[in-house]
Amino acid sequence: MALHSPQGASQLDYRVAQKVLHWLIGIAIMLDLFIAQKFGGVMEDWDRFESRSDHASLGTLVAVFFAIRLYLRIKHGAPPLPDDIPAWQARLAHTAHWALYGLIGLLIVSGIAAAINANSAVSPFGLFVYGDGVGNADLFAAIRTVHALATEAIIVLIVVHVAAALYHLASKHHRHLTLRMLRFWRSETPRS
Ligand code: HEM
Repeated sequence: MALHSPQGASQLDYRVAQKVLHWLIGIAIMLDLFIAQKFGGVMEDWDRFESRSDHASLGTLVAVFFAIRLYLRIKHGAPPLPDDIPAWQARLAHTAHWALYGLIGLLIVSGIAAAINANSAVSPFGLFVYGDGVGNADLFAAIRTVHALATEAIIVLIVVHVAAALYHLASKHHRHLTLRMLRFWRSETPRS
């Protein structure tokens, strides 16, 4: 699946860096979800505080990867979809991709805001601390609700995204759309 874009017409394929970042972001989000699934339940304070920093470390990594991915997306665009893709599928792909970008952005912003307002020092990779470690309980609860809703929405979109990729893989004419992202180590677009 790809996005149409003004620059996209000149691009045959995603760049290798765009593909590598696609997978790194996907893997980091999955791992971060795995750490976060216990936050909804009862946890001992030491476990919650430690897990918050682990979760924020991966989340901060997602933020860095995402910023580079966005820069490359704006710089290089994306390859156009084949002409024989039905219009509704092209529209859906376009909307779903930008919704994914928006939700990743919202998760990053709300996650950092939650970390700043948490009642513990949230420190990604021990490099720095997001807030003062005292926080604001009301603000934290409100931001966490937004963060949790964005998580639920992105899970739905990830399922749609994977289903669409598998659908293309099963189709005789469009399997190259999925294969080119799976073969992340090479690109049809010459380096410039
Ligand atoms: C990148 C994708 C991210 C996903 C999918 C994600 C997912 C989640 C989920 C599911 C929760 C638990 C929500 C609940 O049950 O109420 C959570 C909590 C939290 N997240 Fe994230 N998050 C992400 C990024 C971030 C980032 C970038 C940060 C900060 C740098 C962050 C900081 C936090 C904090 C502080 C909490 C509250 C932990 C607690 O309840 O004690 N998250 N996140």
